[in-house]
Amino acid sequence: MKELEAEEIAEILSTAELMKMVMTSNNKKTSHLQGKSVVTLFYENSTRTRLSFEMASKFMGASSANISSSGSSVSKGESLLDTARTIDMMSTDIIVMRHNQSGAPHFIAPHLKASVVNAGDGMNEHPTQALLDMYTMKEKYGSLEGLEVAICGDIYHSRVARSNAIGLKKMGAHVRVAGPATLMPPGFDRLGCTVCKSVKEAVEGADVVMGLRLQLERQTKSLFPSVAEYAKFYAIDMATLSLAKPDALIMHPGPCNHGVELPTVVYDCPQSVINEQVTNGVAVRMAVLYLLIARRNQA
Ligand code: NCD
Repeated sequence: MKELEAEEIAEILSTAELMKMVMTSNNKKTSHLQGKSVVTLFYENSTRTRLSFEMASKFMGASSANISSSGSSVSKGESLLDTARTIDMMSTDIIVMRHNQSGAPHFIAPHLKASVVNAGDGMNEHPTQALLDMYTMKEKYGSLEGLEVAICGDIYHSRVARSNAIGLKKMGAHVRVAGPATLMPPGFDRLGCTVCKSVKEAVEGADVVMGLRLQLERQTKSLFPSVAEYAKFYAIDMATLSLAKPDALIMHPGPCNHGVELPTVVYDCPQSVINEQVTNGVAVRMAVLYLLIARRNQA
């Protein structure tokens, strides 16, 4: 999101509107990516991101394939660059990559003919998640300008929070963040966000309330006393939610730890668009792949 201009974000979001019409129609086939090939290369687990890129590629007629670190020569010790070059040499147009190291896609991209899409790099960014989140907000409110967005939970480990903070600011929205002090990285104020002292303070009067998963797999030391205590102080429950605007959207990138960052009643409440986010993820990834191929064709 750091590299995208506001006009480019707007172009992706408006293209995604057309893609959503395609993917929700009776005939989900287009020829936008006919003759192109897309490979997803995932060094971390994923359900939504990986499958949505694969569905997006298939709906637009591309040849697509998946490779993950566990079933490949990565487990024999092959380097990231050798793995990426191997995929590149099979006439691949786009490599969609998730990696546990921040900056991994930026590292390989200059060495390849294929374009590289970041599907989440360590604790850095997850741009297509932020784009689908922005799409979901725009679908409800018509514009992102002036929206108050509360992002609550494990901000420190969240590439989703970082990408949303950067992207939403570019589109004229305002982000408030809240979470335990030990899970709040320095510098969010410099991204233009308001760092709140409590989840209640962040949620008060918000148009959008976004919960984040507690990313225990990225923690090397204990950053809070217990999960039960975390849930007591930082879960977005119905009482906290009542402080937001009456029709505020409830969002979560998934997967959700029910009862930790959100109770199930909030996850399933009428204002929750968590399932719509999944659908919108396919539309936004169709738009990203389409626009990328269009630029490659121009070049
Ligand atoms: C997020 C991710 O992988 O960063 N999930 C996703 O892409 N839908 C958030 C998470 O794993 O908690």
